[in-house]
Parts: sequence; structure tokens; C-alpha cells
Amino acid sequence: MDAAVKEWLDRMTLEEKIGQMSQTVASAFSFGNTVISDTPQKLVEEGKVGSILGAFDMNKVYELQKIAVEKSRLKIPLFFNADVIHGYQTIFPVPLAWSCSWDLEAIKRATAISAKEASASGVTYNHGPMVDITRDPRWGRVVEGAGEDPYLGSQIAKAQVEGFQGEDLSDRDSIIACLKHFIAYGAVEGGRDYNTVDISEQRLRETYLPPFEAGLAAGAGSVMNSFNTYNGIPIAGNKQILNTLLRKELGFEGMVISDYGSISELAVHGVAKDNKQAAKQALDATLDIEMVTQMYAKFLPELVAEGQVSEEHINAAVSRILTYKYKIGIMDDPYRYIRPEEAERLYMSQAHLEESRSLARKSIVLLKNKQVLPLQKTGQKLALIGPFALSKDLLGSWQFSNYGEQTVSLLEGVLSKLAANDSVTVVAGCAVEHKIEGGITEALEAAAYSDVIVLALGEESEHSGEAASKTKISLPEAQLELAQEIVKLGKPTVLVLTNGRPVLLDWFETHMDAIVETWYLGSQAGQAIADVLYGDYTPSGKLTMSFPYNEGQIPIYYNHYNTGRPATERKGKYASKYLDASNEPLYPFGYGLSYTTFKYSEVVLNSEHLHRGGSITASVTVTNTGEYCGEEIVQMYIRDLVGSVVRPVKELKGFKRISLTAGESQQVIFTITEDDLKFNTSDGSFQAESGDFKVWIGTNSRDVQEAAFELLD
Ligand code: IFM
Repeated sequence: MDAAVKEWLDRMTLEEKIGQMSQTVASAFSFGNTVISDTPQKLVEEGKVGSILGAFDMNKVYELQKIAVEKSRLKIPLFFNADVIHGYQTIFPVPLAWSCSWDLEAIKRATAISAKEASASGVTYNHGPMVDITRDPRWGRVVEGAGEDPYLGSQIAKAQVEGFQGEDLSDRDSIIACLKHFIAYGAVEGGRDYNTVDISEQRLRETYLPPFEAGLAAGAGSVMNSFNTYNGIPIAGNKQILNTLLRKELGFEGMVISDYGSISELAVHGVAKDNKQAAKQALDATLDIEMVTQMYAKFLPELVAEGQVSEEHINAAVSRILTYKYKIGIMDDPYRYIRPEEAERLYMSQAHLEESRSLARKSIVLLKNKQVLPLQKTGQKLALIGPFALSKDLLGSWQFSNYGEQTVSLLEGVLSKLAANDSVTVVAGCAVEHKIEGGITEALEAAAYSDVIVLALGEESEHSGEAASKTKISLPEAQLELAQEIVKLGKPTVLVLTNGRPVLLDWFETHMDAIVETWYLGSQAGQAIADVLYGDYTPSGKLTMSFPYNEGQIPIYYNHYNTGRPATERKGKYASKYLDASNEPLYPFGYGLSYTTFKYSEVVLNSEHLHRGGSITASVTVTNTGEYCGEEIVQMYIRDLVGSVVRPVKELKGFKRISLTAGESQQVIFTITEDDLKFNTSDGSFQAESGDFKVWIGTNSRDVQEAAFELLD
């Protein structure tokens, strides 16, 4: 392959090389103030682009590939890129939702299915997975990630890369995975998208880097830069991040692609005086492909002519791009990813829908249940009230399915459970964002005749995702008012939530009998929710982001540092706390209820002394003490009590999903090694420091059993 790539480089003009480094979109459109006016056909024929973004129409993909391989001078096939985040046509739960399943195999299968559908449709290069750690629910992009924890985030990053890329990238069912957004995008100030990031190296390495490291170790072929700064330099032009850290230290040999517009934004940030200097900075930082905005095409030729950038850097970028075109097999078989008949068979196939439903059920988190759930399938009059009762807006952001209309609504799911002579009354009561005249009266009338009320509330899918930050994360006023009127009836009321971020639920926690967090569950959403509501599936999901009481607590996450004045240890005023709210979240990381109950024994260590290179075990016996068969996610946390730099008060270091029938017990054993205790120490090395540790095992990050051990030299 290397020799073949070299031969290509020898044959290519400078413009053709830059063409490989430039991406365009399938159709002309405008972006910000720029109109992307060149038709892709012309650019492809002239060898001015190497990849196409957003080619969701297979005919278009075929047309453009044909032009590339028949009409361009060199006949080099194109990459077709798309954001395949949680499904292609069959849509799975949004990533924040599926992370709550903690089911790595199921997530891997979901991404493998997404890759299968996408690759049969011509897509070769994914703009995902998004592996940013997210601790600020005001940031809309939390919906695309796996939540606040770097350990779980790393496991999920690995599972997704393995799913998208399969065993071997040359397999035509796989697509290139792109880890995004490198790096620390989740730390944008105030949760405002595209805002400044200013964090320590410790925070960078301890929190934001691990999922990228895991994704790289799993073989991801690409990385996308984030829009933010690190140490004052936007990542698109940040040599220290892209070259020194990513390529040299982490050994990444794949393609770095810019996020949309981020090269020209170097000038807007104010680190480049114009777009020409921006193009130079990005190339110097080793950024290989420019997403759509043509700064490379415009300025690299003159920058080379003036000796401002070296053609060697361009050759290195093009080598990486062509290497991946070989790896996925398009250099030898340009049309291998365009398989219309197979695609039609795969889209929304029974098998794919079943996987989607299965993962959707596991993604649901039961936040409260005062013995009202599960509902009864017969003899219980149900009022289904709220703007999400009939809604099909259950897919979430970053999906482009043509089958949105086939999304199973909550009502459809509920109806599938009821016997023929049982009925349900459905009323919206209000719209998602505003009141409807007479809506509350109608809702109250419907509720009056019911035995139980299901309130289906939430956020529009457009309210999370890119450029969807909020300062208030409560549900819209109109919905709160509806809920306040409904609870006055004093009937058993279940809140079913559809949302893309943690929202404020303090009032609901007090007034609802049950709360079911469903996020956006994808094509089978309503079916999966009904499975849980009617007890055909016992909920097992656990939160991967803490739910605050109010916005003032943000950022809030379980694995924070102790501070010198922890409110948990220090009495009186001068502790690290708020005067008007608790430090604790309403629902902590790892939290989620079941219809059954689990009892944990004490933690048993096989030794209290861990020797370097050795291992010890920590075990508990978990007993299903309730009446339902259920799955439990058993979580293990560790704390290093004294470190050369401060250590989090708890860090997830292991988890296991177990299934227990009523009355059944199981011993769950975790192995702890020196590797689990390593961190970036004060001297810059990544190692475990000897001393005392605590270990906890439990049902969430708060409710745990404790033991202690020592790491000996
Ligand atoms: O992939 C996305 C990225 O996450 C945000 N900006 C646009 C890109 C389009 O592919």
C-alpha cells in the first residue's frame, strides 16, 4: 500500500493533492455568510475534492463516484461522509440514552447495524462517534455523548469504534469511525456551544482524553477537531494538540478532519490575521481534510509557492487519506459501498427494529416509582396526556432517517398492550413550547375519568444537539402548568419524559407517583416505553449524567475533587457549599430503579494488600429481594486517599450487568490491579502511587458498600 500511495503522490499535481484534502457537500447550499455555490459535479470532475459530506441520496453518491472514477484526470474514488450517530435509517436511542444501558455489546451491535445500513448506501466515512465527556446539561451536545464519566465513556467509545469499523475496515459492511471532537469540547464555558474552553492539563488528561485514547486503541481511522481553544489556541490550528499530543504522543496515524468552518474560524477567534494564515496554521498543525469550507483549496497553492508551507506536509496528509481509501477498498472497487437492493432490505428490517427496541428498553431509566408501575393491561382506565402522547419526535437530533413517520409513538405503544375492550383517552393539553386554548380543561376532563394518568412531557429534539444550548433546563412553562393542574386531581400520575439532557425534576419528584426517563429512544420508542410501563420489561437503565436540583449547581458530577473544605466533613458556614442549595444532585450518576429490589452484601476483599503487578478481588453478593425478575448494573468505585495531585472522591473502575430472578442471589467479583489506580501524577508520569485506597460497590454512585485496601511497593 505504501508503494502504491507513493506512486500516486508522484503522479499528482499540487492542486490534485489539495483536492484530496478538500471536502464538499452533495448539493450547493449556504453556510453562515458563505454560499457554497460550486456544484459538486464540477469540483469532482476537476479533481478538486476528495470527499463529499451528507450524500444521503444513493443516486447522487453513484453519480458523483462515477464522475470521480471516469471523468477526473486521476480517477481517484471519493469518500462519502455522513453523521451516522445513532442509526442510519433504523434509528437507535440517542447516545446519552444508550449510555444509560451500560450494555457495551448492545451498543456495539447498534453501531454495527448503523454501519451496515450506511455502508450499503454508499457512506464510507462516519463523522462519529462523539466521545466528548459531558458535565454541563446546558450544553445541547450532551445528547450525543456518553455522559460525565471517563471510564464508562472510554468503554463506550471503544464499543462504538468496534461497531462502526467491524473486525476489518476492508469489510464492506464497515465505515471509518471518526472520534470527535478533539478535544475538551464538553468543557465549553457556561455550556454555550462553540464557547471558550480553559482547563488545566490535569483535567484534560484525566477527564477528556481517556475516551479518545480508548477509541484510538480500538483503531479509529479518523479524528475531528473541536471548535474550542486549548491554552488559548483553537484546536484547528493547535500544533501542540493535533501534532504533539495526538500524533506524536498518542501515535495516531489516521486522518484528522476539521469540523465545519473551523479553519476559517481561526481568523474569527483572532489567532490568524486572515483565511490564508488560517489555512497555514491548520496545515502546520497536521490537519488533513478540510470539511467543506475550501480554505485549503484557495490558499495552499500560493502558500506552497511562497515557501510558507512545505509540500512535504501536504504529501503526508494525502498519504494518510489515500492509505484509508486503500484500506476501505475503494481504490480497487469504487462502487463496493453502493448496494441499493441490499440497502432496501436492511433499512428498518425486522432484525434491526428488534435490536433498536431492545436497546431502547435498556436505555430507559426509572427515576421514581411509588407502586404505580407497572400499569395493568386490563381493567385500568388510562389517560395519556401531554404533547408527547402522540408525537413522533422521538428520534432525537443527528438522525436523517427517511422513515421518521414510522416511529412508534407512545400512544401506539400503549395501544399494542391493551386488550381490545380496554381504552385509553389521549389529550395533548398543551404544545411542547406553548399553551393551547382550552387544552388544560380538556386534559382535566380526560383525567377525571381515568384510574391512572400518564403525563408525556419533554423537549423538542431540536432543543438538544449542536447549537442548542440553554440557560434554563426546566421543562417549558406550558407543560409545567399542565402538570400542576393535573396533580390537583390527586390521581396516580406517571411522568414519561422525552428529552436530550438532564432537566430539572425537583417539583416532579415531589408530586409524581412515578418518573420514567426515556430520552429519545429511536424508531421503536413508543413500543419500548410501553414495554416498561406495562412490565413486559423491568427497567434497568442507570443515569450517566447527574440530574441537578437547579442550574446554579452546574457543572455537577459525582467524580469531583474533595476541596480543602468539603461540606461532607466540615460543619458550619465556611465549607465548600451553597447557602441556598445542596451540593448533591437530585439523582446521582449511576442511579436508576427497577420494579424489583436488590440487596447488596458487604464488600469482601480477598486481601487488603495489593502488590504492584498483582491483583486483589472485591466482591459482593447481590440478592433480588423483590417480586420481579430484573437486571442490575453493579458498579465499583475507587478512591485514592492521598495522591501527588488531588484525586476524585470516587471514580468508576468497573461494572457488571447481571440478571436475577426473584429471590435469586449472585456473587459479583471485581478484580483490582495496579492499572486501575494509575493517574497523571505531579511529575507527569502515568502511574499508581502506593498508599491507602477505598473501594465501594453499589447500585449507584451514592448508595454503596465500602472497604479499604493498600497498594504496596
Ligand atoms: O460532524 C458534525 C460535527 O459534529 C459538528 N459540525 C458539523 C459536522 C457535520 O458533519
